[in-house]
Amino acid sequence: MQDMDFENRMITPEYTQIDAETELSLRPKFLADYIGQEKAKENLSIYIEAARRRKEALDHVLLYGPPGLGKTTLAGIIANELGVNFRVTSGPAIEKQKDLVALLTSLEDGDVLFIDEIHRLSRSIEEVLYPAIEDFAVDFMIGEGPGARSIHMGLRHFTLVGATTRSGQLTAPLRDRFGILLRLELYTPEELARIIKRSAGILEIAIDDEGALEIASRSRGTPRIANRLLKRVRDVAQVRYNGEITCDVARAALERFEIDELGLDDFDRRLLTTMITNYGGGPVGLETLAAAVGEESVTIEDACEPYLMQIGFLTRTPRGRCVTLQAYRHLGIEPDTSGQITF
Ligand code: ADE
Repeated sequence: MQDMDFENRMITPEYTQIDAETELSLRPKFLADYIGQEKAKENLSIYIEAARRRKEALDHVLLYGPPGLGKTTLAGIIANELGVNFRVTSGPAIEKQKDLVALLTSLEDGDVLFIDEIHRLSRSIEEVLYPAIEDFAVDFMIGEGPGARSIHMGLRHFTLVGATTRSGQLTAPLRDRFGILLRLELYTPEELARIIKRSAGILEIAIDDEGALEIASRSRGTPRIANRLLKRVRDVAQVRYNGEITCDVARAALERFEIDELGLDDFDRRLLTTMITNYGGGPVGLETLAAAVGEESVTIEDACEPYLMQIGFLTRTPRGRCVTLQAYRHLGIEPDTSGQITF
């Protein structure tokens, strides 16, 4: 575990190969099966019903929130609920204007076009997207040199669903063109336990309520992590126990993976300990911290910090990040009261 790089952490919220094996079968298809995110779900159901009654395309939707919370799943649900085609792409996958034009011109009335990591679209692609989502039209150049011509083409009334980890990463003109903004929040352990029980049912894994809650409380508010841990704990349950995941089995398995009661792994502990030992608990700037632990600052910001802030272990101040007293206690480190620890 010590030398594991961030990409291979069992509790990274980023999508990995392990998730690909089962995520499709675990994804709920309709709003009624989607657990948690009550606020987003309720608003969305009203907008979907209204669009359906008016027989119009749904307004463009921006989903934002930390990775692994079900943005792609929710986009698929929007398409299913509307009874339209679901087309999926991502910001980094669209390299040329003509790729986006080809995609846009193939859409039918009401279709949902999902662009994951929409903040990673290049500026020249964004320029094609603006008139497409505002006026349902594209302008593009055909040919080269003196014979080049500009073509204007009308599009069907489709719905763009964009997903990003932070809405602040989007350019203002793009963000302003979304009629519906939905922020996804980290899940509570109780919601995650319901998701784990549902997934266990689909994957035919034996688990009791306490076992589900134990995995849930160590899944950092993230269904993708919960489903991944469920599969790894099942392995331990089958090989070392009688196959059923109880609280004790879950606890033993997660200890084996070095994931503590709060879901922190070696990387989180190293991040917090570095802040304490090298920077007196903070404030320390994100870039400085990233260099000290050898990780990219966006990864720390998107995949680590939301959970550490949610459990009250980390605060963001204008002068940098600070470790809280609670984190010291959890790590078993005595705060140095002679130093300048700021809370
Ligand atoms: N699997 C992943 N996210 C889920 C959710 N919010 N509800 C049900 N199953 C899920």
